[in-house]
Amino acid sequence: MVIAKLTALLANLSICYATCLSKEIHRIQNPTHNAPYSPPFSPPWGPDAPRLLIIGDVHGMLSELEKLLEKAGFSESRGDRVIFAGDMINKGLESAGVVDLAMRINAASVRGNHEDRVLRTWAGAEMARALAKAAGDDADAAVAEYEGTLSEDELKALQTARTMSPAQRKWSAGRPLVLRLGDLPSLGEAAVVHGGMAPGVEVEDQDPWAMYNVRTVLHLDDNDGFANDTQAAAFEETVHTKLRDMLPGTEPSLDEIAAEKERALEFYGGRDPAVVPIDTNEGQWWVEVWNEVEKAKPEGKTLTLFYGHDSKRGINVRDYSFGLDSKCVDGGKLTALVLEPEGSESLKHYLVDVECKIA
Ligand SMILES: *[C@@H]1O[C@H](CO)[C@@H](O)[C@H](O)[C@H]1NC(C)=O
Repeated sequence: MVIAKLTALLANLSICYATCLSKEIHRIQNPTHNAPYSPPFSPPWGPDAPRLLIIGDVHGMLSELEKLLEKAGFSESRGDRVIFAGDMINKGLESAGVVDLAMRINAASVRGNHEDRVLRTWAGAEMARALAKAAGDDADAAVAEYEGTLSEDELKALQTARTMSPAQRKWSAGRPLVLRLGDLPSLGEAAVVHGGMAPGVEVEDQDPWAMYNVRTVLHLDDNDGFANDTQAAAFEETVHTKLRDMLPGTEPSLDEIAAEKERALEFYGGRDPAVVPIDTNEGQWWVEVWNEVEKAKPEGKTLTLFYGHDSKRGINVRDYSFGLDSKCVDGGKLTALVLEPEGSESLKHYLVDVECKIA
């Protein structure tokens, strides 16, 4: 509704501002779901073949990132590549510097919940400004009013957005939700995602929001019901958070919440396993269910995920998942998983980390 109103009013603004803003907002609200990525190695390889570094949640901790790249022996001239598992920005103080570095080394990344919040609050503020300008109202007052609808976390995210240049926001908004790395030697099909995925659901069908927010899954019974009231409440809370995240500053209506609950239960119910991803810890850790499901698949049909997001559970390496968020922004560590060619056709992997100061 707000968007339709904006589109109509944008026609009254200067052409570049209107077009650029609507393009930018489109990019923020519709990230690419699933993008292919070509790792820098193809067997057989020589002794100094390039490596791939996958780095967990940086959260604006620039000097730690620089130290990590140095410690891991990152070499641009060798052709090494970096992929960030999302949440490169926000919380820490040097978000702009981190994105600047990522752009300079031609790194890849996926959208994290923090990128999403930073970009969407920025879009909301720009929309408020554009609407006010088009109506001949005080734009600064309209932005201040919008800020008043934001939670503390949303307001912080907006402040982070303002430290970034237009080119940095554009780069951030252009990152996909999932990077498909193809069939890696020793690992098989692999992908990078920020939060994780719903077990048993094809990548193409994954819920975008869940992929950068999932922590656990709730098991549905044969009637699409939950085990108890605590779990039902956790599901309701997740739906509310999801709808609010889509349009920061706007409370979802009861009808919208009911419709989204119904859609989710229809989508996840009756599947094998019948589980609903949520962003809190009331369910079973999605990683456990993911690994069970992948293990039961025939060879060549599995998918291994590299993810961040879960600093509470931290570094976790399993057959079909690699958790890489080691809580840097809260004084933990910053971790890179290095995938390094070994022999002529296989890949070895190891972790490199550095200590982080408290942000
Ligand atoms: C709700 O059900 C889950 C799954 O069976 C269980 O782990 C949890 O302890 C239950 N919580 C309550 C409050 O009964």
